[in-house]
Amino acid sequence: MTSSIRVSLGERSYSIVTAPSYAALPAQLARLGMPAWACVVSHQALLDRFGPELLGPLRRAGWQADTITVPESERSKSYAMAERIMRQLARRALMREPLLLAFGGGVIGDLTGFVAAVFRRGVPYVQLPTTLLAQVDSAIGGKVGVDLPFAKNFVGAFHQPRLVVNHVGVLRSLPLRQRRSGLGEIVKYGVMADPELFRYLETHVRGCVAGHPTALRVMVPRCCRIKARVVSQDERETRGIRTGLNFGHTLGHALETATGYRRFTHGEAIAVGMVAASRMSVEMGLMPASDAARVTALLRALGLPTSARGVSWSAVSRALRFDKKFLEGRMRWVLCRGIGRVVVRHDVPPALIERVGRACVA
Ligand SMILES: NC(=O)c1ccc[n+]([C@@H]2O[C@H](COP(=O)([O-])OP(=O)(O)OC[C@H]3O[C@@H](n4cnc5c(N)ncnc54)[C@H](O)[C@@H]3O)[C@@H](O)[C@H]2O)c1
Ligand SMILES: [Zn+2]
Repeated sequence: MTSSIRVSLGERSYSIVTAPSYAALPAQLARLGMPAWACVVSHQALLDRFGPELLGPLRRAGWQADTITVPESERSKSYAMAERIMRQLARRALMREPLLLAFGGGVIGDLTGFVAAVFRRGVPYVQLPTTLLAQVDSAIGGKVGVDLPFAKNFVGAFHQPRLVVNHVGVLRSLPLRQRRSGLGEIVKYGVMADPELFRYLETHVRGCVAGHPTALRVMVPRCCRIKARVVSQDERETRGIRTGLNFGHTLGHALETATGYRRFTHGEAIAVGMVAASRMSVEMGLMPASDAARVTALLRALGLPTSARGVSWSAVSRALRFDKKFLEGRMRWVLCRGIGRVVVRHDVPPALIERVGRACVA
């Protein structure tokens, strides 16, 4: 069965389709009038596992489908890798416009989307997310980009995909650590907008961690709907609505950067970031301490870290300065007013940031 959620952005609107296979993809692409040359950007291991399932239907329907592979690592989300992809595309392009298919997790999605935004001043792309994190979050919304060694997501663009296809079957091969990482973003949705989802996670920890089909059927569309709504209301994060999706991300991104993108998955880093943001929210009198305790307890139950022992605070605070939420010398923090409600604040005292931050890495 397929179901669809719409991201409403005028002429840039698109659907997030949940499907049991990629069999319908060629017809969907044809309906959208996509170019006949499809270039799949992915990892070799993913192509080995799922390549025939994706490329077969496309080729049978007359698409020319080529592949470009990149190594599996956050470190592939780099300017150098984007250039390498663009050189390969340029060599193969010969006046043809490519359709890029991002087949992988958030690294592939952000990187491919970035290439699609700038290659020949913009070409169409489609997101085929294969991690839980990418299906609920990164494949939706058109924030694309690459990391600099000292600043996460620092180079990028807004470039909406033409379609997102969430094939539920591909998640079956996802390792436990990556399932947990996706659950980090799902907790975020609960805290920012959906107390019922938060409660569901609390009461179905085992099914959620196991990636049980019933749990996925509850969690994935719920998160996609929230993201679609938020992006439709505030595509370019100019109205403060989309900023709420960054709950836990200010410290989370700094932890990723400070550890050379090696120690934490994105979901692990934002889990620690959510604990920190909750603590700040309590100390600023915004969030009941009991709600903050629920956030920490849920993350722990899901097997996510709640502290980042051993990371150098000076490296973290250096990275914080490069956060895009650092505006005009004032840091922007997404805080919580209780599970289901977030608020953006520019007045978090530096001493509080340092105290809570140091406690996270101590
Ligand atoms: N653009 C956005 O709005 C947005 C939102 C959230 C996160 N992000 C970004 O997403 C990135 C993290 O994405 P991620 O967590 O998907 O990590 P990832 O893309 O690195 O994937 C994690 C690992 O899982 C493997 N994998 C992927 N699919 C698999 C499958 N079906 N079976 C087995 N293994 C599989 C990958 O090869 C990789 O090794 C970060 O760079 C983060 O900044 C972007
Ligand atoms: Zn995130």
